Amino acid sequence: MPEFTSRDPSSPAFWDERFEQDFTPWDLRGVPQALQDFVARDSEPRTALIPGCGNGYELAYLAERGWDAVAIDFSPAAVLRARRLVGQWAGRVVEADFFSWQPQQALDLIYERAFLCALPPGMRPQVTTRYAELLPPGGLLAGFFFFGTAPKGPPFGIARAELEALLTPQFALVEEGEVIDSLPVFAGQERWMVWERQ
Ligand SMILES: C[S@@+](CC[C@H](N)C(=O)[O-])C[C@H]1O[C@@H](n2cnc3c(N)ncnc32)[C@H](O)[C@@H]1O
Repeated sequence: MPEFTSRDPSSPAFWDERFEQDFTPWDLRGVPQALQDFVARDSEPRTALIPGCGNGYELAYLAERGWDAVAIDFSPAAVLRARRLVGQWAGRVVEADFFSWQPQQALDLIYERAFLCALPPGMRPQVTTRYAELLPPGGLLAGFFFFGTAPKGPPFGIARAELEALLTPQFALVEEGEVIDSLPVFAGQERWMVWERQ
């Protein structure tokens, strides 16, 4: 286990250190199967945001399928990695803080993976409020939600009742499924979910 100086996951320095030292146990090194399945059955390409994108594999995947996707991260080290990794889509990786970033055009989907659970639990209401602000009625919050009760993190697991209380009534759960390709750090505790903005 490397030595880290930053202990605050709400600061870019925390994530910079971990990317720079290649300590990224949350990193799937690819596109999760449940997202691939969702894209395959979704009727048309969407305008999507990937907040806290990390390496940003999903950005290239979605852009190659005609989606107008943008990936943001506030860690310069993450942005550097993502820009290298996504090749021709590098211009769609933006260094920005999720809480102040403004979309250039209306979004119809926000993709969640290891973002909500990366932040201190006290920030959850801020995150879900921002999701609701960024999506118009009918827009989707789709992705992976990490459940658990362990007080230490990241990742910080959430109780299902807390997630529901945070997302409703602004969102309604319209789809849910198991995750077949979880990494050890999330295994048995994550669910694929799609929430629709009301
Ligand atoms: C656990 S990593 C997950 C990365 C990626 N979503 C994945 O699935 O591999 C959390 C990411 O969120 C980013 N992040 C945390 N807070 C952020 C904020 N306020 N604005 C933008 N990015 C943020 C971190 O820099 C880090 O890259």
